[in-house]
Amino acid sequence: MADSKTIAKPALEVNNLSTWFYTDKGIVRAANDVSFTIKKGETLGLVGESGCGKSVTARSILGLIEPPGEIVTGEILLDNTNLLQAETKKLEKLRGRELAMVFQDPLSSLNPVLRIGLQMIETIQTHKKTSRREAERQALLQLDQIGLPDPERIMRSYSFELSVGMCQRVMLAMALLLEPKVLIVDEPTTALDTTVQTQILAELKRLQREMNMSLLMITHDMGVIAQMADTVAVMYAGSITEKAPVKKLFDNPAHPYTRALLSSIPRLGQNNLSPIEGQPPSLFNLPPGCPFLKRCPEVFSKCFDYMPSLGEISPGHFSACLLANNFELPGVSSQ
Ligand SMILES: Nc1ncnc2c1ncn2[C@@H]1O[C@H](COP(=O)(O)OP(=O)(O)OP(=O)(O)O)[C@@H](O)[C@H]1O
Ligand SMILES: [Mg+2]
Repeated sequence: MADSKTIAKPALEVNNLSTWFYTDKGIVRAANDVSFTIKKGETLGLVGESGCGKSVTARSILGLIEPPGEIVTGEILLDNTNLLQAETKKLEKLRGRELAMVFQDPLSSLNPVLRIGLQMIETIQTHKKTSRREAERQALLQLDQIGLPDPERIMRSYSFELSVGMCQRVMLAMALLLEPKVLIVDEPTTALDTTVQTQILAELKRLQREMNMSLLMITHDMGVIAQMADTVAVMYAGSITEKAPVKKLFDNPAHPYTRALLSSIPRLGQNNLSPIEGQPPSLFNLPPGCPFLKRCPEVFSKCFDYMPSLGEISPGHFSACLLANNFELPGVSSQ
């Protein structure tokens, strides 16, 4: 029987991460005091509307924030190594090997002038001492595993010769090549129709189980969350507003923003999620108070006083809504 302590061990821990961009127009507070944990073999779904800070959070984890962006506070632990203090060389070694990411726009991450096969072989050989023949064998196997027909042909192709769905699968296969412990997948299936999306995600889930890999699944689609996630973190205007095991979140959403997101489920597969009237606040200068108050159907006077932090309303279920916390919540410390 599996040891419960082993199962519960976190593979990735993000603690109090704040990432800001110091632009000419002011400071964009893209991620504020973001914390979550992903256990070994589990999936955390990070969900929220466009511009809420999902990709910035992911890029922060990979050490890909460039000026004028800066990680202002936080700790990112991958198997107890704080990535924010790791040397560049160590980080480069971990990236790909232990921690991989499929970017939001996979087409632009594939090199258009190199055949797919060569890109895959190079990825393997950069990280592992492997003969070219063995690297090629592994690449073919991985393409087959992710459900691509005729892997030999794919290996000989350039990205522009493949459909978007095929490119998405190729990107996933490339990310899986080195069997990373943690894989971050940033809306890779957004451009696909629902059937193809569901298929790819099912294949990813099967491979995840085989590899006991942890997954950070970024999406704005609650349908994807339902299919993939064990735990969900809902993000709004740079902050996590609710965090819970997936069933608790769907059965008992404890933030008005989550309830609004869930109302979009009947339109599963639709790409642009716009369940709520109005726009999120500008990240340049977040007004005091709850960031959701302008759009919240349940807003009341106390919501204007300060920005609430996450409070635990039942074991493992956190909400940053004063109503869900009986009006008792401390403010966010980093604001
Ligand atoms: N290089 C940058 N300079 C200034 N602002 C940036 C930069 N990169 C991101 N931002 C800002 O950070 C905020 C969060 O962006 P992010 O890309 O994380 O959103 P997202 O949740 O991934 O949205 P989407 O669902 O559209 O991908 C946005 O307001 C964006 O404009
Ligand atoms: Mg994004």
